[in-house]
Amino acid sequence: MTLAIEVSGLQKSFGEVQALRGIDFTVEQGTVVGLLGPNGSGKTTTVRILATLLKADSGIAKVSGIDVNSSPDQVRTMIGLTGQYAAVDEYLTGRENLQLFGQLFHLSKKQSAQRADELLTRFDLADAADRGIKGYSGGMRRRLDLAASLIGRPSVLFLDEPTTGLDPRSRLGMWEVIESLVAQGTTVLLTTQYLEEADQLASRSVVLDHGSVIAQGTSDELKSQVGGDRVEVVVEVPSQLSQAKDALVSIASGEINTNDAEHKVIVPTSGGSRSVVEAVRLLDEAKISIADIALRRPTLDDVFLSLTGRSAEEEKPEVKAKQRSRRGARA
Ligand SMILES: Nc1ncnc2c1ncn2[C@@H]1O[C@H](COP(=O)(O)OP(=O)(O)OP(=O)(O)O)[C@@H](O)[C@H]1O
Ligand SMILES: [Mg+2]
Repeated sequence: MTLAIEVSGLQKSFGEVQALRGIDFTVEQGTVVGLLGPNGSGKTTTVRILATLLKADSGIAKVSGIDVNSSPDQVRTMIGLTGQYAAVDEYLTGRENLQLFGQLFHLSKKQSAQRADELLTRFDLADAADRGIKGYSGGMRRRLDLAASLIGRPSVLFLDEPTTGLDPRSRLGMWEVIESLVAQGTTVLLTTQYLEEADQLASRSVVLDHGSVIAQGTSDELKSQVGGDRVEVVVEVPSQLSQAKDALVSIASGEINTNDAEHKVIVPTSGGSRSVVEAVRLLDEAKISIADIALRRPTLDDVFLSLTGRSAEEEKPEVKAKQRSRRGARA
């Protein structure tokens, strides 16, 4: 299997900050790999090194077998990058933006115009093509940004948080676009705060924390690390929580936990949906009223929480928005 991306022993510091402490991972051609991690874990730094925008202090990074450090120009002809912060020019129209990118890629005027047309249609932006992008919605900007990164027909695409800030419908639209690119053979390295996005799109994920790889594997492999199914019961009467815990001992395959704030008992189980039926019977017998009961499988979010001690989405959206506008102003 040919490797589209190879990273080994990659290190990078910014002054005192060790952004990358020697990371290793590979991405097979034609696959999507998710690069996950809390804020500041080194995702963007990794992507910027691979995209030749930043030099590593040590270690090796290769794209399609080409070393990014010794042959950056050759690497640039093969890659596309959609950054965490949109790179399009506010004062131009969508079409002008794409034509500009085409010329940066040394396409002729005519070729740039043709390629812009093609991409505007493909990303559902044809109607808005001749409007200034100041008036574009967040979803339209992201699509234009992705279109711009495809001008040079890259075989390897780096997507740094491609759907952050999009509403659920625009996010689904973006997923479809990414899936169709992959179906055509493009390799994608995707960073995201939305673990359901990695679950949906990526065949494997690499989890970073404090500049190190702390786990990698398929979603199923990662989920099995945090254990199996569990029955979650919300009791109607909060004072019955510990009684409920006692009542459910016989279906538990491990330690039972409670979440007092949510009046919830969490019971690890290996009995599948039968455990839910049994739990209802046991609680009924103990005269405990159930407000809600469900069988839950671990999500990538649970994995993330257990690996890093933090939830992927716990950061407050307004904080993120402020960072974005600050960094935008600096750029
Ligand atoms: N140009 C820079 N100068 C100084 N420090 C930097 C620079 N770029 C990144 N860092 C630091 O390196 C670390 C890793 O940053 P990076 O942007 O790679 O994280 P990230 O995983 O992309 O985070 P986020 O989820 O917030 O996008 C952070 O501590 C960050 O503050
Ligand atoms: Mg980042």
